[in-house]
Amino acid sequence: MKIIGTGSAIPSKVVTNEMLASFLDTNDEWITTRTGIKTRRLRSTETLVDLAVSASRSAIESANIQPDEIDFCICSNVANNYVTPALSCIVQQHIGSHAPCFDLNGACAGFLDAMSVAEALLKTNRAKNILIVCAEEPSRFCNWKRRETSILFGDGAGAVVVTKGNDLKSLRLTTVPNRDVIVYQRRMENTPFEVPGVDITEPLIMNGREVFRMAVESSQRDLRLVIEEAGLTPDKIDLYLLHQANQRIIKSIQEHLAQPAYKFPTNIERMGNTSSASIPILIDELYSSGKLKKGDMLALSAFGAGFVTGAAVLRWSK
Ligand code: COA
Repeated sequence: MKIIGTGSAIPSKVVTNEMLASFLDTNDEWITTRTGIKTRRLRSTETLVDLAVSASRSAIESANIQPDEIDFCICSNVANNYVTPALSCIVQQHIGSHAPCFDLNGACAGFLDAMSVAEALLKTNRAKNILIVCAEEPSRFCNWKRRETSILFGDGAGAVVVTKGNDLKSLRLTTVPNRDVIVYQRRMENTPFEVPGVDITEPLIMNGREVFRMAVESSQRDLRLVIEEAGLTPDKIDLYLLHQANQRIIKSIQEHLAQPAYKFPTNIERMGNTSSASIPILIDELYSSGKLKKGDMLALSAFGAGFVTGAAVLRWSK
């Protein structure tokens, strides 16, 4: 696999910590020191479909191909207001592609899941050019009366086009089943046969401390394993592109790996946690600003509800 195109789209609305403090019992100092987040982008006038379509179009244009040259489309999304059809179908209708497509929900690690599926499709000659679009609106499953969760997230979409190549050096996915550490239940229609109280739904609930601990432990373990599998050592990695959940989580992983801070670019301070879109948005930002050089070795790592994790080592050749 190799990445031949990148794109991203973020909402126009910038929401500062001070804006949140106007209706939540929180403040800029707490949010900044505990998370590193200063602003996030939240949907207001745009829909998630708008963001997903815009990121996809940019990635296809950046790949120098036409939409009808996409022969598979994978959309990573945790939740949106379309239960069916899949978001990938709706995106394809807008961009003018008729490729087979599906959505996957790998929580905040969905980009790594999509890369894994894409690699399998490419290796078995089922596709030549695959669009991966990660489109997320976590702001819509937060309880906006709860300061512990609603301050963390941002909305956005990141996309890549991948094709055959030898840039993916290693990839690892893991699951440690744990329903309770991060859980969001969406309300569904009641049937006349529903026994009251059986189907209780909850807004996003998270054990922040436990997620923090699991994130650091799993990410640094996964990174060591994929780096070793790629025949490298942590020193040989040029950039660590980590899921943007909390600046302190990123710093802790950096310290575990004994690597310099400059190798860990971030957008958490501007974007908040954009779930599975965070790594592809970061990749697009870095590529667009000339910060990815041909031959750079990238190590990717993400984690999320499940508890799921994913990591990979990828050579950059665009
Ligand atoms: N503003 C002000 N105070 C807040 C607050 C907020 N937004 N959110 C929580 N607090 C309070 C708590 O109520 C608690 O108060 P108490 O001591 O009086 O009980 C205090 O701050 C400490 O809370 P705690 O949860 O222990 O803080 P923390 O240092 O663990 O930071 C997180 C909380 C959520 C920022 C941190 O645990 C985290 O980022 N975890 C990972 C979450 C994550 O990444 N989730 C997504 C995974 S994909």
